[in-house]
Amino acid sequence: MRARLVVLVSGAGTNLQALIDACADPDYGAEVVAVGADRGDIEGLARAERAGIATFVRRVDDFAERQQWDRALGAAVADFEPQVVVLAGFMKLVSPDFLARFLTLNTHPALCPSFPGMHGPRDAIDYGVKVSGATLFVVDGGVDTGPIVAQVPVLVADDDDAESLHERIKSVERQMLVDAVGRIARDGIEITGRRVRVGGSAG
Ligand code: GRF
Repeated sequence: MRARLVVLVSGAGTNLQALIDACADPDYGAEVVAVGADRGDIEGLARAERAGIATFVRRVDDFAERQQWDRALGAAVADFEPQVVVLAGFMKLVSPDFLARFLTLNTHPALCPSFPGMHGPRDAIDYGVKVSGATLFVVDGGVDTGPIVAQVPVLVADDDDAESLHERIKSVERQMLVDAVGRIARDGIEITGRRVRVGGSAG
């Protein structure tokens, strides 16, 4: 049985594409059963459609209250009965109710707990760090605060700006995501407080 993934996106969807490509190998252990978004007309949705994957869109503005949107998003995700939900560049926070229903992973383009929020690469450049990177974590109630599943470092070059650093981070971030999600699908995940163990070895 392959693990069922629902991936939520808000933009370009290159992390989603990496997962779609990995899932083409039956030995990978997972399949993307649906892709959801908080907006239409984005490359992430187009990537899913090209791959023949079901899609859905739930826009915050279409609901009177944020809570209603969150419930509708949760219902749409639940329809696909995922073992894991992957936020791959999804630019919305989801509620504790959503997180209680689904094991939800997110990637962040910085080494948590440094530089949480929308501007990880820019904040790393502005601070002057020499090493940044990418973090895969289990989403909790905070902003990029959840238990860490995997991290990969990226050296900051003297002439980097936020964009060039983010692009280099994204290339290792995609591989990190593919590796970790595959291991979780095949071997499971154990979360004890802040400590995460994937399969038989510390993640
Ligand atoms: C990634 O760097 C992710 O960490 C951040 O937004 C970017 C999404 O890229 N939250 P993409 O849409 O997967 O290309």
